[in-house]
Amino acid sequence: MISIRNLRKSYGSNHVLHGIDMDVKAGEFVVMLGLSGAGKSTLLRCMNGLNQPDSGTLQVGGIDLMQKHSRRELARHVAMVFQHHNVVQRLSVRKNVLTGRLGQVGTLASVLQLFRQSDIELAQQCLERVGLAHKADERTQALSGGQMQRVGIARALAQQPQVILADEPVASLDPKTARSVLQYLRDATREMGIAVVCNLHQVDYAREFGDRVVGLAQGRMVFDGAPADLDEAALDAIYHSAQQEAQPAAQGSEARTGLTPAGVWLPASASMAATAGGL
Ligand SMILES: Nc1ncnc2c1ncn2[C@@H]1O[C@H](COP(=O)(O)OP(=O)(O)OP(=O)(O)O)[C@@H](O)[C@H]1O
Ligand SMILES: [Mg+2]
Repeated sequence: MISIRNLRKSYGSNHVLHGIDMDVKAGEFVVMLGLSGAGKSTLLRCMNGLNQPDSGTLQVGGIDLMQKHSRRELARHVAMVFQHHNVVQRLSVRKNVLTGRLGQVGTLASVLQLFRQSDIELAQQCLERVGLAHKADERTQALSGGQMQRVGIARALAQQPQVILADEPVASLDPKTARSVLQYLRDATREMGIAVVCNLHQVDYAREFGDRVVGLAQGRMVFDGAPADLDEAALDAIYHSAQQEAQPAAQGSEARTGLTPAGVWLPASASMAATAGGL
């Protein structure tokens, strides 16, 4: 579903991706971990055609993204789920999910938002998959954050994509809600045979939900394996190797190496301070 070879991307003199190799199969749920600035979003944006890589090969859902391609064609194969729900608050839940079909209907139907009965049924099935069928007629603004994120997932499923790319989809949710959202995403994509790449900052969610985990550090793939293989050495490679560069941010929320009792990954220095401070 996804095939990446020696992918490189720079912003001016900032070399962000240094030759990424990665394959993702249908139905596989891959969690991508890495410090802030490691290049996770940049890589996802390359896979979604939003970033143009400098070199390498990149095929997603049968489309060669290094060649000219239409956004419409890409939308038929690749769906995105973002951190902020990206749902239209004033629309009903059903209409939000139906917007996932806009790439598939003709231009006129798209402008007039005319949907086929089969699309309406599909939207309902997608809502069922995320446990929100009973909310279809409600205004989206009346939903909780976790429910809105599930609407975003239902909309992505309604695109009937081969690939879903999720960039920190649970970052703004409490742990219980986050787990339930990830569970819906993983179960639906597994049952539908969709390949998923999901950027996360939580190692425990990666262990719990990932079929596979990849770790990015300073634009290089430093880990690619089963969640069970995500041991101290692997976490060191993912989070510690970037520590030198990340030092200035070490006091910030994005520093994470060393597990605190609360399960938060912090750099060694911050971790000691946290322990000393009784965190
Ligand atoms: N549009 C852009 N223009 C210039 N530089 C960019 C752009 N987007 C990202 N970068 C740079 O690319 C590097 C990687 O950023 P990226 O957003 O991919 O990191 P990330 O791993 O997703 O981090 P986070 O966990 O904070 O989301 C950073 O140095 C960032 O400043
Ligand atoms: Mg990011």
